[in-house]
Amino acid sequence: MPDSFDGTSKIWGGRFRQPPDPRFFAYGRSVEWDRRLAPQDIRGSLAHAASLHAAGIIDDAQARALREGLQALAQRLAAGEALAITAQDEDVHGAIERLLGPAGEYLHAGRSRNDQVALDFHLFCKESAQGLAGLAHGLQAALLAQAEALGEALCPGMTHLQEAQPVLFAHQIMAYFWMFERDRRRLLWAADQADRSPLGAGALAGAGLPLDTRATAKALGLSDVYPNSIDAVSDRDFALDLAYAASLCALHLSRLGEEIVLWASRPFDWIQLPDAFSSGSSMMPQKKNPDAAELLRGRAGRVVGRLVGLLMVLKGLPLAYVRDLQEDKEALFEIVDTLGDGLELTAAMLQAATFTPPGVAQGDLMLATELADYLVRQGVPFRQAHHLVGQAVRTAVERGGNFLALSREDWLAISSHFTSRALGELMDPLRAASRRAVEGGTAPARVREQISRAHAALGV
Ligand code: ARG
Repeated sequence: MPDSFDGTSKIWGGRFRQPPDPRFFAYGRSVEWDRRLAPQDIRGSLAHAASLHAAGIIDDAQARALREGLQALAQRLAAGEALAITAQDEDVHGAIERLLGPAGEYLHAGRSRNDQVALDFHLFCKESAQGLAGLAHGLQAALLAQAEALGEALCPGMTHLQEAQPVLFAHQIMAYFWMFERDRRRLLWAADQADRSPLGAGALAGAGLPLDTRATAKALGLSDVYPNSIDAVSDRDFALDLAYAASLCALHLSRLGEEIVLWASRPFDWIQLPDAFSSGSSMMPQKKNPDAAELLRGRAGRVVGRLVGLLMVLKGLPLAYVRDLQEDKEALFEIVDTLGDGLELTAAMLQAATFTPPGVAQGDLMLATELADYLVRQGVPFRQAHHLVGQAVRTAVERGGNFLALSREDWLAISSHFTSRALGELMDPLRAASRRAVEGGTAPARVREQISRAHAALGV
């Protein structure tokens, strides 16, 4: 709660006989977190001041005073100085207006905090979405580099977390690449959703001054204006679009985190995490734990929770500005920070990690589908082929779990198609993978093709 207090100095104080109750003021005060929007607020105000000047509402001297005041503030912030807020400041908009001194008194003509805050938030969401897309790009580049380094190394591909078919390790890594490619596209799309200026909507009905809102939007780097001033101040869809795009991306980080935890465990041993991204145990001296990957999994909840929270804030709101909308900012700040940190961390961790593909043994039971496919190519109906190979699996399991345990006679008793010549090829896991040669398959040639598509997608 602010320590000193003076209600009459509020920017809206004129019609009030009483200052706000300190409890209410503290409850509604947002400057402690919305000060983060100061750079956007200043840019918006610079554009608005220029628009007032162009419309002849303020004269040259007033316009210059505003411009110089705003630019000086922006420079101080850019140099790392904190916004000098006082206990009386309610939000960032009021604080900046106060800091401008007497010049600031002219600034708010033709504008409401309703369109002002909406503008700030559009700029923030657009820039944040672009920034996150850039960080996703960095993670994708790290995944791509690892996939390329893995060449034709094999590992078990799993379904139900049970060994299923041999795949290239690079193919597994690239599966994550494409998830993050979709995320990056979604984030860029979310940036487009925020690429519209609400300024000029005023409180809700549209500014009553002859402002060229398209010119102001353009000056701010925004491509469009809202066709409806009421929608302009009510809309937070663009924030939800970003929140959703970020949630899905956080979810993918969480899944990758789970994968890394699994792969780093002794029974797998598919990834060696760098020490710098691992933790030890306070009790067990031998431990090296994948805490970073676990936190990726754990933190996804924050992002998704904030998305759901914001959906709840918005679901019952009537038209135009209501104070509930103030809840949007902390939600997006947490989303943007959490996801940004996670993307950066994961890219760095993966860059420094070593993958140790386990390979797949000759005659491994994961070749069963290969054997069935072979029989199909010999004209056997698939259901019969499945059954016949099932018999071979049963015998192999009884003898230690590898097809090489079956004799020539065992094979021929199952099917006359299982000649030694055919089996020689069928027992080789890399050849098995090479036959998965449809577009998007794990055949080395297809994985190379996939990798060049990935380069094209990233523009590297
Ligand atoms: N702090 C407010 C927010 O973040 C700014 C807009 C206030 N507008 C108003 N009419 N009370 O939403």
